Amino acid sequence: MNAPAPMPDRAPVRFPNGFLWGAATASFQIEGDRAGRGDCVWDAFCRRPGAVLNGDHGDVACDHLRLMADDVKMMADLGLQAYRFSFSWPRVLPEGAGASSATGLAQYHRLVDLLLEHDIEPVPTLFHWDLPQALEDKGGFRQRESAWWFADYAALMAREFGDRIERWATFNEPWCYAYLGHASGEHAPGLRDPASAVAVAHHELLAHGYALEAMRSVRADLSLGIVINPAPVHVDDALGDDAQRRIDGTLNRWWLDGVLLGRYPLDVLDDLGSWANCVQDGDEGQIGQELDWLGINYYNDHFYTQRTAAAGPGVSPHVSAPESAPMQVDRPTTDIGWPITPQGFEALLMRLQDDYGAALPPIYITENGAAYSDGPAGAGEGPGDGIDDQRRVAYYDAHLRAVAGAMDQGVDVHGYFAWSLMDNFEWAWGYSQRFGLVHVDYQTQVRTPKASAHWFGDVCRTNRLP
Ligand code: FCB
Repeated sequence: MNAPAPMPDRAPVRFPNGFLWGAATASFQIEGDRAGRGDCVWDAFCRRPGAVLNGDHGDVACDHLRLMADDVKMMADLGLQAYRFSFSWPRVLPEGAGASSATGLAQYHRLVDLLLEHDIEPVPTLFHWDLPQALEDKGGFRQRESAWWFADYAALMAREFGDRIERWATFNEPWCYAYLGHASGEHAPGLRDPASAVAVAHHELLAHGYALEAMRSVRADLSLGIVINPAPVHVDDALGDDAQRRIDGTLNRWWLDGVLLGRYPLDVLDDLGSWANCVQDGDEGQIGQELDWLGINYYNDHFYTQRTAAAGPGVSPHVSAPESAPMQVDRPTTDIGWPITPQGFEALLMRLQDDYGAALPPIYITENGAAYSDGPAGAGEGPGDGIDDQRRVAYYDAHLRAVAGAMDQGVDVHGYFAWSLMDNFEWAWGYSQRFGLVHVDYQTQVRTPKASAHWFGDVCRTNRLP
C-alpha cells in the first residue's frame, strides 16, 4: 500500500542527519515461549481473577521468540534503523539471581545477531515490568536488596552483550511499576499500599544507579540511559493547584530531579513523609550518576479532578493526592480513551529544557503511539487486505511535529521510537487494545503492516515528515 498523501496545510519537516528512527516492544508483551523462562509477576497477576481483561495472559502473546527471524526481516523491510525491546529478567535468570539460563541467553544472542545482520541497532531495556516471581516472593523492589539483584543482572547482560550493543536503558517507566503496581494495584504485582509504592519508587532508582556503575565497570564505552514517562499535569479548580504540585512531584520531578540532579525535590519528600524513610544518606548521589541519554515516553497529558463517591471504588496511584481522580475532558481520544494532546508533548519537552538546562543529556523519544482498533477490512477477507489506520497516521504526524517544534526551539532530541512495532499484550487491557504499526492476528500469528507502518517506514527512510 502506498503512503497516504501529506496532511493538508502542513509543510514537510526534515529531521537532522543521524536522527535515529525505530519501533519499540517489551518482552512480556510479545515474546510467548512461556516454558522457556521463570515465572514473573505478570504471570501471577494474569492468573488473578478479574485482574486482566478477558483473563488474557502472556503465554503465547505474539509468539515472537518463535517468529523472531520473520519479525526482524519485517522490521528491515519497513525501514527501521533501530529496535527497542526488553530483556526478560526471568528468561535469563529464572530465579532472578544465581544460575543463568543458557537457553534464554542464546535466544537473545540470536535476536541481536539477526538485528545486526539486518543493520538494525538493538536498544534493549533491562526492566520492562516483568520481575522474576522468585524475587517478588522475597519482597521485590520493596526490598532495598533489589538494587543489588538488579545491578548483578545488569552486569551479566553487559558482559554477554556489551560487545555488540552500545545503547541500553535500565528501567522502563519506573513510575508505572511503583505506583500502578503497588498503590492503585492496576498492574502487577497488584498491591494497594502507598508505603510500598514509595519504597519501590526509591529502590528502582537506587537499582538504576547501582546498575550504571556495575555496567560501566564491565565496559566503559556503553551508552546508558533510563526511560521515564513524564507528562504535563492539569487539574480543575475543584482539585486545586496544590494537588497539581503534589501529582507533578511524584509523577515527574521525583524521577527527573533524582536521575538528573541527584536529589529528590524537598517538597515531594515532605509530601511523602514517613513513606520516604527508605531513602538513606548517600542514596541520592548514587542515583544521580551521569546519564548518557534520557528516554521519554509520551502518550498524553494528564487531567485530574476531585474524586467523588460517584467515581467508584478506584484507588488513585497518586499517593500524595489520594483525593484526585482522572477527569474526562472534551477532546478527541484514541480507542483506549486517552486524550490526544500533541501540544502537551511539545510543552513537556520545552519544560525539560527550561527546568534542567545543562543537566539534561540527549533525549530519545523511546515510546509514543496510539491504540486504534482498525483491523483488516471486510469480514472473512483475511489479513492480506489493507488496514487503513489513518487515525494512527494522524496521531504520529501530530506528535512528530510536536517533537520537531521542540527541536526547533533547541531541545536536543536524537531519535524516536514508535510504540509499538506490532499489536501486543496491553497489560491490564489484555489483547483488547491495538497499538501496533503492524496488525497481529492472534489466532494465526499472521502479521499485516497497517497503512501507518508504510507511512512510518517512509518517514524513517527519508528522515522527514511528508
Ligand atoms: C507504556 C508502556 C508500554 C505500553 C504503552 C502503551 O506505558 O511502557 O509497555 O503498554 O504504555
